[in-house]
Amino acid sequence: MGRQRIFSGVQPTGNLHLGNYLGAIRNWVEIQSQFDNLFCVVDLHAITVPHKPETLANDTEAIAALYLACGIDLNYSTIFVQSHVCAHCELTWLLNCITPLNWLQDMIQFKEKALKQGENVGVGLLDYPVLMASDILLYQTDKVPVGEDQKQHLELTRDIVNRFNHQFAKPDQPVLKLPEPLIRKEGARVMSLTDGTKKMSKSDPSELSRINLLDSPDEIAKKIKRCKTDPIRGLEFDNSERPESNNLLTLYMLLSGKTKEEVAAECQDMGWGQFKPLLTQTMIEALKPIQEKYQEVMNDKAYLESVLRHGKHKAEAIANQTLNQVKAAMGYSLLI
Ligand code: AMP
Ligand code: TRP
Repeated sequence: MGRQRIFSGVQPTGNLHLGNYLGAIRNWVEIQSQFDNLFCVVDLHAITVPHKPETLANDTEAIAALYLACGIDLNYSTIFVQSHVCAHCELTWLLNCITPLNWLQDMIQFKEKALKQGENVGVGLLDYPVLMASDILLYQTDKVPVGEDQKQHLELTRDIVNRFNHQFAKPDQPVLKLPEPLIRKEGARVMSLTDGTKKMSKSDPSELSRINLLDSPDEIAKKIKRCKTDPIRGLEFDNSERPESNNLLTLYMLLSGKTKEEVAAECQDMGWGQFKPLLTQTMIEALKPIQEKYQEVMNDKAYLESVLRHGKHKAEAIANQTLNQVKAAMGYSLLI
């Protein structure tokens, strides 16, 4: 038996922040050597809300460069761009036709984003989870490492698989594989710096709410200085009345590589005035190697393009095979 397959992706909308890194990419890096991995820059998802054509291509390359900078290793993993592989759109259409509308209307992310868009909600925003299901299913994926916020989309993906196989496959010969979410407890939900009860998000209007992976040391220092705290002395984990304390300690734990026990003991008597500079320094040091590697990759566009070209070919071969199986199962005549 070969290795199990992993698929995951990030949208090229705005900068990557610590939530994306600690909730997703860092985990991909940690487990990549045990799996056969595909990491995608999901640029078709990026246009489900109004986007800027002038920056889309560059933002897409920047995410691919950040994957490399964060430690995605091409010996284990393939990096590619969603729009380079046509099968993603095509499978989405086929799956659209078997997905009940009310499943999509029930998605929390759709409801939240639709609310923000007001009048201007495109069909693509509603259809976003079917495109995401297609991403995953084209590669007969075993496991999907994501942050907690994507759990519902994974459940929908599983529902689509069961429905498809039930309608179009023999019980002992499923066409689509049932994927499993891989959600790590620590870092699964990194919270906003300005409100410890809200998740850190690219779409928060306040830059002060998040640390971006490419923030300069000065920006990091400023954001930590101004981040929300509470009037209590001594920091602690897991006190639901102190969400900021839990979030900032968790960030310190994950970025310093210390254990929860070590951090709890180290910080239990600290005031915020002592903790904040410590967190700032730890963050700057943890992000420095990523930022340096990012610059190196972005300065060598020929290399980056060759990575994406190779990724496209590898992904395409797998995706087209599944797409043909799906079409055959649905009764299409194939010219092969
Ligand atoms: P997105 O920014 O929506 O493209 O998300 C990319 C990946 O980052 C997904 O796996 C998300 O689950 C994860 N992610 C986004 N925001 C957070 C957060 N605040 N905490 C943990 N994971 C997150
Ligand atoms: N919807 C995911 C997010 O916002 C991004 C994504 C698109 C994804 N397709 C995927 C994640 C497939 C995992 C697998 O985070």
